[in-house]
Amino acid sequence: MQLIKTFFLGAAATVILAGCTASGDNPGKEFAPNMYHAVPYEPLSQITDENAGNIVNSLDSRSGEYFNSNKYNPSRMTMREPPPHTVRRSPFGFLPYRMPNDTVGLRKANSLVSPFETTKEIIGEGKILYGYYCQHCHGAKGAGDGKVSDKYAGVANLTGDAYKTITEGHIFHVITYGKGLMGAHGSQVSQEDRWKIAKYVKDLQKN
Ligand code: HEC
Repeated sequence: MQLIKTFFLGAAATVILAGCTASGDNPGKEFAPNMYHAVPYEPLSQITDENAGNIVNSLDSRSGEYFNSNKYNPSRMTMREPPPHTVRRSPFGFLPYRMPNDTVGLRKANSLVSPFETTKEIIGEGKILYGYYCQHCHGAKGAGDGKVSDKYAGVANLTGDAYKTITEGHIFHVITYGKGLMGAHGSQVSQEDRWKIAKYVKDLQKN
């Protein structure tokens, strides 16, 4: 009797464990497939085979559990590829900054005009951003005495006479590409924010 019991238990365990095997295209038995596979359209992973996966009654779609193509678009994609040569604009509507990173670019940048009016709000936002990105080197008042300057010699004193006349465009360009010992910040700070910081630096210089 004991032997038969053991035999049946063993057989049952083998059957259950066999259901767990997954390899290649076989995902094995899934306990709750609609928890693992997104029912909504996924923009980057359209599966066009209506029978892919199991037919799962709870999904109520009468197609396989993996099918998620958008049948209303010719390419069956939910996210359409942009047309060739499309240029991304920033949320503020800016095209990418294309002034070259050289002396000619810097000279031309001098005459760029900030898209922002000089208002308390913009200067206030610039101040916050300056605190994030510049203050540790240039110091709270722009005197080049931030904490990092103890270890990193040569930080410019933005309130010094040499810099008093630099334009917002010049500052924008320097933040974008860096200059001399200063590294580029263009990839971390958006164009909008760079203009706001430039506005704040000009304000700092007045004091
Ligand atoms: C890691 C330290 C560091 C950080 C962070 C930094 N700077 Fe600088 N900055 C420097 C140094 C060093 C120089 C001097 C560069 C040189 O002349 O070689 C400089 C120079 C400048 C100049 C003068 C450029 C010129 O025309 O000679 C401006 C303007 C400036 N920084 C603005 C900023 C602003 C705005 C930020 C924040 C977005 C910032 N910097 C962040 C180190 C830093």
